[in-house]
Amino acid sequence: MPTYLVTGGAGFIGSSFVLGLVGQKGVRVINVDALTYAGNLMSIEPILEDPHHTFVRGDIRDAEMLAGLFREHKPHAVVNFAAESHVDRSIVAPDAFVQTNVLGTFTLLQEARSYWSELPEDGKRSFRFLHVSTDEVYGSLEPGEPAFRETNPYTPNSPYSASKAAADHLVRAYHHTYGLPTLTTNCSNNYGPRQFPEKLIPLMILNALEGKPLPIYGDGMNVRDWLFVDDHCAAISTVLRRGRPGETYNIGARCEKTNLEVVKTVCRILDELVPQSRFRPHESLMVFVKDRPGHDRRYAMDSSKIETELGWKPAESFESGLRRTILWYLEHPRWVESVRSGAYRDWMKSHYGIA
Ligand code: NAD
Ligand code: TYD
Repeated sequence: MPTYLVTGGAGFIGSSFVLGLVGQKGVRVINVDALTYAGNLMSIEPILEDPHHTFVRGDIRDAEMLAGLFREHKPHAVVNFAAESHVDRSIVAPDAFVQTNVLGTFTLLQEARSYWSELPEDGKRSFRFLHVSTDEVYGSLEPGEPAFRETNPYTPNSPYSASKAAADHLVRAYHHTYGLPTLTTNCSNNYGPRQFPEKLIPLMILNALEGKPLPIYGDGMNVRDWLFVDDHCAAISTVLRRGRPGETYNIGARCEKTNLEVVKTVCRILDELVPQSRFRPHESLMVFVKDRPGHDRRYAMDSSKIETELGWKPAESFESGLRRTILWYLEHPRWVESVRSGAYRDWMKSHYGIA
């Protein structure tokens, strides 16, 4: 039975990926997650008892634990989502980013290589190590500049993107030097259900529902290319099936929006879905706050390679994906409550001064 070793599968994108995978017949998933503040077992509650899914609480820097999992479960593919993923936190406390994103990916590569090198020839050929990365490794675009292609040079600007870039380079080197069949995907900003509410879209949804300020950094004209999380997961599955080892694939929706446009759209949909709210119009909660240091102006992905070579395309429009996302947060108050731990409240207080 095909077995996937997935890391970070209790986080935002990883949980969507494993929920989709375990839903398919005839696959096994070993899900390793350290359950940091961003990991949440409630996100994978529907599959916790599923015999095709094994959850392991573990750190990807733990070589011994990883070696044991490779020995016991003999995966045919590794999908690495585990990471520290929030730019603002990387500015305040970069250490954890180097630890998990760089050293963690390195440890996972080492253990994967050691397992892979002992496989019979056909197992070696079919094995895949897919590393999930970001568009932020390419740096920032000026308005009007062409979208990032796989051939763009890496010019990361934040401790987060620098740590992801370092990991991408290690993955590349393990293919080039040792022949490990690696694949790297670089994706634009995701949104959807189960995203931790420190990121723009879920933060705005939950603050608006409670009548709290909606903090817009700088002039609100920074641009991101927004992709619905299930479309990202479909792209990863496509790359696992049909991607060429050693290659990298850019993933995006050609959906460039300024932060102001995003927040205004969230507010408009909330006005409509929660007509009884005393905070309508929710737009009146928007406040401009101090900009993020080194704030990248614009990201945009050119996803022609994955579209033409592998036949992937996003299915969700921004309007329909955002509506689904907002409805999910409205319908899952128990999940929302569970992520608003003391650590979350501390972050809101120290970063925004919001109690
Ligand atoms: P997330 O922060 O929601 O989840 C990360 C998960 O990794 C959490 O469950 C956490 O517990 C786990 N984790 C952290 N450190 C770990 C460690 N040392 N060992 C094991 N598990 C650990 O992140 P996400 O938004 O789901 O992002 C997943 C991946 O996708 C990341 O690699 C990120 O760089 C990449 N990515 C994210 C986006 C986005 O918009 N969210 C876009 C492009 C790429
Ligand atoms: P974020 O969701 O943190 O993703 P990233 O920084 O990885 O792109 O932020 C998306 C955009 O929204 C980014 O330009 C920063 C901006 N932003 C705000 O204006 N206010 C906020 O409170 C947050 C969290 C982000």
